[in-house]
Amino acid sequence: MLILGLETSCDETGVALYDTERGLLAEVLHSQVDLHAVYGGVVPEIASRDHLRRLLPLIQQVLDDAGVVRPDAIAYTAGPGLVGALMVGAGMANGLGLSWGCPVIPVHHMEGHLLAPMLEDDPPTYPFLALLVSGGHTLLVWVPTLGAYEILGTTLDDAVGEAFDKTAKLLGLGYPGGPALAALAENGDSAAWPLPRPMIHRDGFDFSFSGLKTAVMLKVREAEERGILEESRADLAASFQKAVVDTLAKRTLKAARHKDAARLVVAGGVGANRMLRDELTRQFSGQVFYPRLRFCTDNGAMIAVAGALRLADGGEPANIQARARWSLESLAEPAALKQSEET
Ligand code: KG4
Ligand code: ZN
Repeated sequence: MLILGLETSCDETGVALYDTERGLLAEVLHSQVDLHAVYGGVVPEIASRDHLRRLLPLIQQVLDDAGVVRPDAIAYTAGPGLVGALMVGAGMANGLGLSWGCPVIPVHHMEGHLLAPMLEDDPPTYPFLALLVSGGHTLLVWVPTLGAYEILGTTLDDAVGEAFDKTAKLLGLGYPGGPALAALAENGDSAAWPLPRPMIHRDGFDFSFSGLKTAVMLKVREAEERGILEESRADLAASFQKAVVDTLAKRTLKAARHKDAARLVVAGGVGANRMLRDELTRQFSGQVFYPRLRFCTDNGAMIAVAGALRLADGGEPANIQARARWSLESLAEPAALKQSEET
């Protein structure tokens, strides 16, 4: 089966073609970063309009690249995300599904991130623990099988990617700030500015990053007053990144012990962070699975593979779905999978 995947939940237009036998056949990504950079963040209306402009030519490009006329099914991001941006992908997927007469599969964006490592040569087997870290979410999820998601912990305030972006802004870096902050931190001393490790000693597996962001703001102010801000920027970036990585690693390892997890999946935009990857690989006793860097951030391939796995279920009736908010835990195991487990 050939599955076309469409991702339009935020500021990347991602399109991919995935073959259930041969794997990923073609994939393109158009980033809107330049369009939004002047505003310092994503402008929802501009995002929707650009998705609309880009989507059809990108679909054509992917089909041409793979030498395919039409897919057997279409998977699209149905949420969570910017509702106007989601509507563009949902409308396109359902329109094409109607004209091609093929099933249309609404995919949960975070399930896409979670399943992105399935695109790699050595994919994880179930059960596994997943740390999903993106611009909108920070989740520790226990995954006994496809579609069964037990959320162990989440953020009480800012998502970790958001904390990276806001701290980057404080340090005068452009949008999106995560990669720029990580690059600046390379030349910094992570012990130079002591920062808190929020929630680290609290019960449970939740996170909180807004206090850390405020702590950095106070340090930036202090550096400014002492007239040393310019030469302190790299140290501040390194100190912030270390505090975040320490916090994520501590909570993740605690959850792994709690579930006696042998496998850990790390995915989502912040999963591209080199220091986070190195620390988790070093500290976790089992095997750690990451998507390749390109598939950590938003892309069409993760939606195509998630759609392929869900297609085993026969897809859902083609009703257009665009949900700004959507709990990962509300998803169900594919019925076909459940039946095969029972028989
Ligand atoms: O998954 P994603 O592409 O979009 C959402 O679903 O939110 O994640 C984007 C987030 C942004 O906040 C970006 O700054 C962050 O991931 N990010 C990083 C890195 N690369 C992307 N944060 C830290 N280090 C990175 N290398
Ligand atoms: Zn995402």
